[in-house]
Amino acid sequence: MLILFLLKIVNTFNFSIGGESSFNNMSADTKRRGADLKELIENGQVYEAGILQGFACNVRGAVVEGNRVGRKLGYPTANLKVMPGFVVPAQGVYVGFVKLDNRWFKSMINIGIRPTLDQHNVTVEAHILEFDRDIYGQTIEIHFIRRIRHEMRFPSLEALKMQLHSDRRKSLTIIKNLSLFPKENDRVLCFSKSGQLRLKPE
Ligand SMILES: Cc1cc2nc3c(=O)[nH]c(=O)nc-3n(C[C@H](O)[C@H](O)[C@H](O)COP(=O)(O)O)c2cc1C
Repeated sequence: MLILFLLKIVNTFNFSIGGESSFNNMSADTKRRGADLKELIENGQVYEAGILQGFACNVRGAVVEGNRVGRKLGYPTANLKVMPGFVVPAQGVYVGFVKLDNRWFKSMINIGIRPTLDQHNVTVEAHILEFDRDIYGQTIEIHFIRRIRHEMRFPSLEALKMQLHSDRRKSLTIIKNLSLFPKENDRVLCFSKSGQLRLKPE
């Protein structure tokens, strides 16, 4: 049942899953919904995209080496080299889940240029909460639940660190209020039409 549902979704919005696009073969209605979905994700409205799509938007890729500044801040991050075919959400800070080795981990994610460090290239990096493992080279998926703020330039690394403490508290509260935690076999995080996050398609 889940496989059939996923195949339907892949056929409908195949750009969000990855793979070859068959956009030209889609009906006008399907194209419009697909375009709406892409626009929502590119605006950072991942929660709304999740409701429209029926499951949390996600990106997949390999974890690559960062500058290792995060570790010094007490917030090490997995920098993701996003595979082609995924729509990357707008720059900003998000709450979500990372899927690694078929297990789910609470996470907070930054998509941006890290202005505090005078960097300019856009990176997708996840700090996995309550986790301390070196996962360089592994493939992970990031599933986005909510955007919590804009990326900002802080006057110092200490100020950024204070903000990260606050992001952490906020992320844990949001996840706690979801009153669920994904299980090993759940391929995706699903939303009902009302916006309630569920583990399986209805
Ligand atoms: C949840 C989260 C929020 C972040 N917010 C900001 C931010 O607002 N401004 C900023 O300059 N960097 C931000 N960063 C990026 C950090 O500066 C970055 O993770 C750190 O420099 C480590 O980078 P590295 O892994 O390349 O060493 C954020 C990172 C995370 C995980």
